[in-house]
Amino acid sequence: MKILLTGYTASDLFENAKHGKRHTASWLTPDVTCHCLDIYQRHAIEKVHHAKAICSAHLPEGPWDEIRFRTGPKLMSGELSLDILQEIHLMRPARFVLDYVGRERDKNDLLDKIRKDPDRVRDFSARWKASVPGGPEVEFTSFPGCFCHRRRDEGGLALAEVVARDLQAREKAGGLRLLDMGCGCGLVGLLVASQVKGISLVMADSHSRAVEAATLNAKAQGVDAEIVLSDNGTPARMDGTFDVFAGNPPYYSDYRIADVFLETAKRALKPGGVCYTVCKNAAGLEPVQRRYFPDVEVVKRRGYAVLRSTRS
Ligand SMILES: C[S@@+](CC[C@H](N)C(=O)[O-])C[C@H]1O[C@@H](n2cnc3c(N)ncnc32)[C@H](O)[C@@H]1O
Repeated sequence: MKILLTGYTASDLFENAKHGKRHTASWLTPDVTCHCLDIYQRHAIEKVHHAKAICSAHLPEGPWDEIRFRTGPKLMSGELSLDILQEIHLMRPARFVLDYVGRERDKNDLLDKIRKDPDRVRDFSARWKASVPGGPEVEFTSFPGCFCHRRRDEGGLALAEVVARDLQAREKAGGLRLLDMGCGCGLVGLLVASQVKGISLVMADSHSRAVEAATLNAKAQGVDAEIVLSDNGTPARMDGTFDVFAGNPPYYSDYRIADVFLETAKRALKPGGVCYTVCKNAAGLEPVQRRYFPDVEVVKRRGYAVLRSTRS
């Protein structure tokens, strides 16, 4: 009996997971594989449950005797739910359980979208454009699950504009090495690369669909970038090798993730390298950034604050 769980977090699988207890939910048997879109969840599930977990942009190949999918309006976007449901439908598991967190009516609406037209295969990817001043229009593809699917993020754009402008003012900017952490579909790194020719680019994200989109977008733009799936910074072999760090971290969980970004920036940058982050309001992030870089300059752009610091 091969069972696939998707959409479950470590704490869903065991209510005490948050407290670090190592009990295993009774249905997490050796036949069960947990699928996660974000590598953070894969690590959390492996750590707490010692269960088999896979992180990938799409469901792992079957055949599966049973697939259980946990979703709901508070857990993921309707488009991502439908995309995953379509993947499950195309895999034709012997048994399917929809563990829906929400109203029965919404659950049936979601299932009806597949039931009413079972042969239709929808494409949920989106293509949209962005550019930095003076640079070419760059086309991006994004997928449900990617941050800002279907549109550019103004904070990310502000960050790309400030980094591109600063680098253009430098001599020999083409030889520099840039790390775009939390790259999403590659907005910041690829916009900078469109303006600063010959830059060497590394992009990192914890979400498998972001990595898939960034890889596709770099290829479409002819940029030879290295793209890393990671939730704990770049690999040690990259420490001290970057001239520029750019990050637009998520600001939930009390700057905990911004902290991971800044810790990575400090490790990854060469002495004299420059760290750029962006947020809506500098007041919250500035003290966090100062823990890693004593000097922080705030550059206002598009209603956002770009924080710039130089590694000593
Ligand atoms: C606010 S989005 C920015 C995306 C893109 N840079 C932009 O500006 O449009 C933050 C990104 O950070 C990623 N992320 C969250 N935690 C992370 C971690 N620990 N390590 C790497 N990336 C992470 C998310 O998956 C998301 O793609």
